[in-house]
Amino acid sequence: MSLKDKIESVRNQFLADIESFPTAQQEIEDLRVTYLGRKGQVASLFSEMGSLSSEERPKAGQWLNQLKTELAKQFESKVDEMDQGSSSHDPFLDPTLPGITPPLGSIHPLERTLQEIKDIFTSIGFHIAYGPEIDDDYHNFSALNFPEHHPARDMQDTFFVSPDTVLRTHTSNVQIHLMENEDPPIRHIVPGRVYRNEAISFKSYCLFHQVEGIYVDKNVSFGELKGVLEYFVRQMFGPKVKMRFRPSFFPFTEPSAEVDIWSTERNQWLEILGCGMVDPAVFENVGYDSSIWHGYAFGMGVERIAMLKYKIDDIRHFYQGDVRFLEQFK
Ligand code: DAH
Repeated sequence: MSLKDKIESVRNQFLADIESFPTAQQEIEDLRVTYLGRKGQVASLFSEMGSLSSEERPKAGQWLNQLKTELAKQFESKVDEMDQGSSSHDPFLDPTLPGITPPLGSIHPLERTLQEIKDIFTSIGFHIAYGPEIDDDYHNFSALNFPEHHPARDMQDTFFVSPDTVLRTHTSNVQIHLMENEDPPIRHIVPGRVYRNEAISFKSYCLFHQVEGIYVDKNVSFGELKGVLEYFVRQMFGPKVKMRFRPSFFPFTEPSAEVDIWSTERNQWLEILGCGMVDPAVFENVGYDSSIWHGYAFGMGVERIAMLKYKIDDIRHFYQGDVRFLEQFK
C-alpha cells in the first residue's frame, strides 16, 4: 500500500471510530493515544517517511501534517460536544444544587499583624533582620546595660537553657548582634519570638512576639523617634486613634518612653511598645563612638497590637488553633 493509501485508511478508520461515540473518559483517551499518541498511528506513518525518496518526501510530509491537524481538530470538537452534553446526559447530576466549597484556610491573625507592621516600616526605609532565639546572657542582658542583679534576669522571668544561655526575653538582643556585625548607619526592624516564664493568663503567655526597631546615624533625635512611631500607630490603627507617649525606664535607652493606645472597648490606656534613645553605654559595648553616633530603638508587642486591632480579649486564642477563632480572619 502506498503511503497515500495508508493515510486515507487511517483517516477513514479514525472517522469511523469517533463516529461510534466513545462515552467514557477512558475510551476517549484511548482513542487519542491510538491515533495521536507518541506511538500512535499518525506517528508511525511519520516514521515511514524515512524510506521515501527525497522527491516524494515534501509532499508526504504535507499530507501527514494535514492528517494530524485534521484528526486533532475532530478530536477536540468531539470532546467539546461531550463536555456540553454531559450535564444533560447524567440523570444523577442536578446542576441547580449549590456546589461543595472546599474548606479554605486563613492567615493567622498574628502573621497578618506582623505582615502589616513589616509593610509599614519597610515602606519608610527600614530593613528586616532576624537574630537568635537562644542566646547568651551577654546579648540578652549585659550588653544592653542590665545590671548584674536586675530582676529581669531572675529565674522567675527568664527560661534558662544553661547558666549562661537563655531563651531570649525580648528581641533587643538582636540590636547587639546587628551593631556588632555592621557599622552605622543602620536602620532595621527585627520581628521574632520571645519567651518569658510567666503565669499563663488572658494577658500573658510563655511565648509571644515582638518587633524590635533600631536606627543609628548622625543627628538622630527623640523628635524623629516620636514622628516615626506616631506615623506607625496612625497607619496601623487609623488616623483617629488616641495615643500617648509616657516617660518610662529601660536600662538600654535614655531617655525612655512607652506608647499607649486608648481602648474604647475597655475604656483604658493599653501599652503597645517601649522606646527611647540608645544609651551611650550600649554603644560603648558594641564599639560605636557615642560622640559621633546617636540612635533610637523601640520594641513592640505583636500580640498586644493584634488584640487591640482585632478586639481579641484573650492572648491564649492565638495559640490554641481553634478553627472557630481562626476562621474569623479570612
Ligand atoms: N525590650 C523591651 C521589652 O521587652 C521593649 C523595648 C523597650 C525595646 C525600649 C526597645 C526599647 O528597643 O528601646 O519590654
